[in-house]
Amino acid sequence: MCGIIGYTGQLESITILLEGLKALEYRGYDSAGISFFHNNQIQTVKTTGKVSELERNVIETHRQDLSSTCGIGHTRWATHGGVTDINSHPHTFGNVTLIHNGIIENYHQIELEFATMGKYPRSQTDSEIAAMLIDHLYQGNPTEAIKKAVKRLEGSYAFCILFHDQPDVIYSIRLGSPLVACHNSQGSFIASDLVALLPYSKDYFVLPEYHIAKLTKSEIIVTDFDGTIISPKMLHVNWDIRSAQKNGYPHFMLKEIYEQPTSLHSTLIPRLNQDFLPDLTMDHIPNRIFDSINRIIIVACGTAMHAGLVGKILMERLLRIPVTVELASEFRYQDPILCDNSLVITISQSGETADTLAALRLAKEKSSTTLSIVNVKGSSIARESDYVLYTHAGPEIAVASTKAYTAQLACLYLLTYHFALYKERVTIKECQEAMKNFSAILPAIQKTLELENEIKEISQNIIKTKDVFFIGRGLDYALSCEGSLKLKEISYIHSEAYAAGELKHGTLSLITDGVPVIALATQSHVYPKMISNIREVRARGARIIIISNGDFPMENSIYDYRISLPMVDDFLAPFTAAVTLQLLAYYTSLYLGIDMDQPRNLAKSVTVE
Ligand code: AGP
Repeated sequence: MCGIIGYTGQLESITILLEGLKALEYRGYDSAGISFFHNNQIQTVKTTGKVSELERNVIETHRQDLSSTCGIGHTRWATHGGVTDINSHPHTFGNVTLIHNGIIENYHQIELEFATMGKYPRSQTDSEIAAMLIDHLYQGNPTEAIKKAVKRLEGSYAFCILFHDQPDVIYSIRLGSPLVACHNSQGSFIASDLVALLPYSKDYFVLPEYHIAKLTKSEIIVTDFDGTIISPKMLHVNWDIRSAQKNGYPHFMLKEIYEQPTSLHSTLIPRLNQDFLPDLTMDHIPNRIFDSINRIIIVACGTAMHAGLVGKILMERLLRIPVTVELASEFRYQDPILCDNSLVITISQSGETADTLAALRLAKEKSSTTLSIVNVKGSSIARESDYVLYTHAGPEIAVASTKAYTAQLACLYLLTYHFALYKERVTIKECQEAMKNFSAILPAIQKTLELENEIKEISQNIIKTKDVFFIGRGLDYALSCEGSLKLKEISYIHSEAYAAGELKHGTLSLITDGVPVIALATQSHVYPKMISNIREVRARGARIIIISNGDFPMENSIYDYRISLPMVDDFLAPFTAAVTLQLLAYYTSLYLGIDMDQPRNLAKSVTVE
């Protein structure tokens, strides 16, 4: 998704803008640009390609004088119009220069209206139409022009806007797309996410939707549509700037894979009381919400949805109430059957995924209780849910989600056992036992990370293949789904996850000599069946990589490679299996020379439909 940074204050703005865009690169983008006031004139430099390219252009065009103290910067993830210099942001039309994250759904209709006036955009973007509209409505009062313009706009937006006759002032407004801001002695800062503000402040606020922020060197004034000045709720983040940097790792993804013992510790341990029982007091989740719940719907996208697949199995096994897992992009248009006895759990690392946010809003319209599992404090999904169970994974920069996924699993385990204990589906003793087992997952993950070289070797066996299959049963099928996505999104190798029992109903026809099959066999209750399925694919020539829970004897004729994970309770095998699959995908991508932190076409947070 697009990245936004804005600054006005006492410091030199161009460096701040470029550093901010570098911090936002992880969001995924195809072009970048900045606009800044220089001698009361707005200068713009923008280009397709990386921020480093933009930096070179800035130095070339403004070598002699980079003295500017106010500007805006943007990294573009193309939604309307190709990847070209002219389509890059910022866009200037008349008196207005703006950057935009989101989609203006009725831009074409507005464009046609301007055509009748003989006004035409230079680019093929929806964002430039917004600049045209604001300019058209501007008669000297920026706030009024912005308010009139957004009344015409349909869709989502986060704007930072410069008016050519308002030097050193930035105006912002948002709907759907995120914007966070802060002010300190250095000036006023605004960005699409916290990572860009970290070097300047850990105290920030989220710009409320439909509110206009006026950033000046001395303050940020936020007003609602009636012009009433409001004081947005201040938030504090414990992340430090180092946690948003590689700290010696070659890639953010590897760093975040290795951070999992720490991120799981931060997510789990503070929520275990001295009796080793789950304690969600810090999360302000009252037990009474569980009294009337007779159905749970988990709604998410991508990896977060795969965490939900694990959650479903845990919850149904312990709570004995129906749990369904829904893709948010489908759920939001299904007119789902919900009621006030439904608990809708939304899972999202960023807390800004448009489909998941829309699903949450739909659940609230249907008077369901909503609880979100989110990593970014104060994000839209967190703010709009009735209850929030934060993962404390720290900033996750790599597009491929790793530590956030296992932290989501941890939250689902905690919530399930907490709920089960309250409903007396487990005894105190059983719960204590489970939580002791659970806290033992931290050293087990550390031991799994020590298998890195073995996993790295094995990944060399899949780099040259066109198709890879992941198979498993129960929790192993849920993990197969996640393993397949990890591999696809960062190695560009096609792969599929299949319920092992389903192979014979079609997919087996694709298994021929040498096709790699990654078989997860960690669940003892279905282990014999899993071995039968492995034999099925073996008989057709598949190259088998088995991932097992523990190092128990297994006839070695049925596999080519085996990764024996540190033995843990079957229920907890998803954690060690996930780390293995993450490393397998990482090293496959590394061998293929792919930038796995920013894979092609993908964004870290999909804030548009
Ligand atoms: C996971 O590796 C992908 N980056 C993607 O599937 C991601 O999980 C999905 O877009 C959901 O994002 P969220 O957790 O921020 O809502």
